[in-house]
Amino acid sequence: MTMSLTTPPQFHPNLDVAAVAATDASLSRTATMADLPAIEALHDLAFGPGALTRAAYRVREGCPPLSPWCRVMCRGPALIAAIRYTKIRIGGHGQALLLGPLAVAPDYANQGHGRRLLADSLDHARSTGMTLVLLVGDPPYYARFGFQPVGPGRLRWPGPVDPQRVLMLELQAGCFTALHGKIVGAD
Ligand SMILES: CC(C)(COP(=O)(O)OP(=O)(O)OC[C@H]1O[C@@H](n2cnc3c(N)ncnc32)[C@H](O)[C@@H]1OP(=O)(O)O)[C@@H](O)C(=O)NCCC(=O)NCCS
Repeated sequence: MTMSLTTPPQFHPNLDVAAVAATDASLSRTATMADLPAIEALHDLAFGPGALTRAAYRVREGCPPLSPWCRVMCRGPALIAAIRYTKIRIGGHGQALLLGPLAVAPDYANQGHGRRLLADSLDHARSTGMTLVLLVGDPPYYARFGFQPVGPGRLRWPGPVDPQRVLMLELQAGCFTALHGKIVGAD
């Protein structure tokens, strides 16, 4: 099956999944505004109600829904995974991104899509001069990419966060050493 360039991808539960050929390759690319409905449908399934009140989401309030670092993975006409990044400032430092959400459609979980989307997006972030990626997530999943705990007391979030889930990855060695302060979304 081929995808028309003018047809936005759909989140797969709205599709005839059987129609997505097993031979269709999964392709990772930069997200566009046309992807937004499918991304939001994927988030609704992967994250339950209440997710929008989390501190990490509050950082993103007022920021555009997509940044140049957001990526999606499509398989044929189906959008099967998405990763969002928001540009942030930490105590005045502006070359940082907040990662999240990362979501993979359940039917496609544990097949390496999350890992590939993460790796592709980190390469892109590095190549565009970003020096730091921050996230609130599951340490065992992100540790394999080099994410490390930030530790308590360094960062101020706009709401409560579990300090054990606050992780960072330096894309430029040593860039986090002197960083501390309030996290705010930046355009
Ligand atoms: C978490 C998620 C993004 C992983 O993506 P994926 O494509 O299913 O996973 P991958 O194929 O990249 O990696 C699979 C490996 O990660 C592990 N893994 C999956 N989710 C994990 C989690 N939440 N914590 C720790 N390890 C996890 C699997 O056990 C597997 O381990 P193995 O390689 O040792 O067998 C995906 O399952 C998802 O969208 N979950 C629901 C939403 C969510 O929780 N998002 C993360 C927000 S922090």
